[in-house]
Amino acid sequence: MGTVFMAGSSFAQQVTIPVETQHNALVLQTDAEKNLKMVYFGVKLNNTKEYEAIQKMYNQADDSGILNSAYTPSGSANLAEPAITVTHADGNKSLNLVYVNHVVTKVDDDISLLTVTLKDPAYDFEVKLFYKTYFKEDVTEQWSVIKHGEKGIVTLNKFASANLNLKGSGFWLKQYHGNWAMEMQPEEAKLTHGIKTIDSKLGTRANLYEPSMFMVSMDKPATEDEGKVLLGALEWSGNFKIDLELDVANNLRVIAGINNAASEYHLKSGEEFTTPALVYTYSDQGKGDASRKLQSWARNHKIVDGQGSRLTLLNNWEATGFDFNEAKLAELLKDTKKLGVDLFLLDDGWFGNKYPRNDDHAGLGDWQENKQKLPNGISSLVKEAQANGVKFGIWIEPEMVNPKSELYTKHPDWVIKQPNRPEKYFRNQLELDLSNPKVQDFVFNIVDDLFTKNPDLAYIKWDCNAVIYNAYSAYLKKDQSHLYIDYVRGLYKVLERVRVKYPKVPLMLCSGGGGRVDYGALKYFTEFWPSDNTDPIERIFIQWEYSYFYPAITSSNHVTDWGKQPLKFRTDVAMMGKLGFDIVISKLSADDQAYLHGALNNYNNLKDVIWHGNQYRLQSPWDNDAASIMYVNEAKSTGVVFNYLVNNRYGTGTHVPVRLKGLDPQKKYQVKEVNLYPNAKSSLENNLILTGDFLMTVGVNPHVNSGRTSVVLQLDEVK
Ligand code: GLA
Repeated sequence: MGTVFMAGSSFAQQVTIPVETQHNALVLQTDAEKNLKMVYFGVKLNNTKEYEAIQKMYNQADDSGILNSAYTPSGSANLAEPAITVTHADGNKSLNLVYVNHVVTKVDDDISLLTVTLKDPAYDFEVKLFYKTYFKEDVTEQWSVIKHGEKGIVTLNKFASANLNLKGSGFWLKQYHGNWAMEMQPEEAKLTHGIKTIDSKLGTRANLYEPSMFMVSMDKPATEDEGKVLLGALEWSGNFKIDLELDVANNLRVIAGINNAASEYHLKSGEEFTTPALVYTYSDQGKGDASRKLQSWARNHKIVDGQGSRLTLLNNWEATGFDFNEAKLAELLKDTKKLGVDLFLLDDGWFGNKYPRNDDHAGLGDWQENKQKLPNGISSLVKEAQANGVKFGIWIEPEMVNPKSELYTKHPDWVIKQPNRPEKYFRNQLELDLSNPKVQDFVFNIVDDLFTKNPDLAYIKWDCNAVIYNAYSAYLKKDQSHLYIDYVRGLYKVLERVRVKYPKVPLMLCSGGGGRVDYGALKYFTEFWPSDNTDPIERIFIQWEYSYFYPAITSSNHVTDWGKQPLKFRTDVAMMGKLGFDIVISKLSADDQAYLHGALNNYNNLKDVIWHGNQYRLQSPWDNDAASIMYVNEAKSTGVVFNYLVNNRYGTGTHVPVRLKGLDPQKKYQVKEVNLYPNAKSSLENNLILTGDFLMTVGVNPHVNSGRTSVVLQLDEVK
């Protein structure tokens, strides 16, 4: 049981609630009218008592008196962007929320949960604010639970997860945009007065044009190692909306949650509406420090098996597309073994009989092995893989249906489409209506059947290639505006069932590339597919940007034939996360094959540091001829530095040393180049031993140039 705190008996008595983590604090405080406000966000103070004095130091314009509300209602005093808008059962649209009490529960040594209850004095309407803090990691997950006891239905018109208030002498937003094969394109700009919105209305594959991840720098634009910065992301795989309002008092109000566009939610008396969490962290030491906090939180608390291992793999999508049969796959299984990776992943094209999946126009929904391509079924492939000493994994896209499928003919009412309008397709397909429990069962059973029939199946790639056009559910009837929300809830219900039955099996989260990379989904997955774009030059930039929010262990990086870079360059880039391949091994020269063997050996030595160590960005690909990224283990005894030439103009390279980070200045390290071709000699000095002090103050030159476009350095402590 937690400790319950109540509002004091004297009306004017203030309640101050510091929400502290190892380095930071967010402070909530009531005013004389019991409005709950967010009065501070930043590094924590030495004397907790002094939080009470913060608000009195500000004398900013605020006619409403609730501009910095911790959860801004609408229709009463507030005229700024609200966190919540409702229509009461009697049709009234006003809401006021005042503090009632708060409870702090200690979940374990690291985690605490603060719950603040707010109520409307005029209506039987309640909002609970939840702040789940991860002390060590400096991370907070914030969400709300909305409930009422009114006679009849209350409509929720807007329902944010979090409403933060930041103070600073200026705010800079870093956000992302993109499209297929162009994920995570960053933009950073100073916020001007008014509202800047980052949102998605795509329904599924919701991140296709804009993901919900963002950074806000305060006072000045934060750099990698300096400045005050908030990193945030909504844990939700559907429509989202993040409003950043620079208000009349020059404070920044951040209001984040499910997008309310076309999504009013009808709430029965006593029913609870739980919003997804906004996860955020703060650092006064730059974006790099903030990103390491988020990465370790993800590994320790969010993703499946974050402390565990991962399987290296060979995938067939780039190599064969839809064109394969048992003989071809038998070869690829041999290649998997020869290459020395753990698993073969069979991609799209293995299913559908009446409407065979020979291209992307047909078959989705009919999850039976295609008899022509695979007369002996998946089970024989799993066995064949085992005979080769490797594991077997498979691609599915279980939420989707092609109109050319038996499923579509049999269950037209399971398909999201308007009853009176022509169908509109995205990649020739439509979504199944996951708000419908029968559809949830169907989708769960696709996964369950695969594992039941093939208990040794070791991996699933779960894809989602379409957005939702013509949103309409035959199941939801009069509650059409629930579809976008209930779809995602339905998806999570299915994934929850999968995880209850198969708690640790590796699942890759894919959505036509990185169309669904968010922590709402990643709670159920071990890794994600960042982009179909595997051109290594592009990947350096894409992986660099994802890494601010997601740890390397979650990033599936495959070596393919995209781009013009040599095999070494492609492999070195893919090594920065979870390594995989999608190339034809038998076409490689003996030298290339020998190189890959060596590289995989190195990867096996270094993967623990890459997957579980701390990541430091040394030189950005955006501002330098050569990009450098390093990983160091917790003990600071082993590290790896990846360096890539990203500018092909004459004379480019590392003319000056690259300064390392995260080492122990007292320790001595041997610096050795790895991932070399057999017989190739490094231009680095033999037996180069330098102190952490030297490596971090002066640096080391990896000798990147047009003849050495990618260089991997391994660091080992020498005692
Ligand atoms: C999506 C995925 C690819 C591949 C294809 C198969 O585009 O991102 O990796 O699986 O689907 O159709």
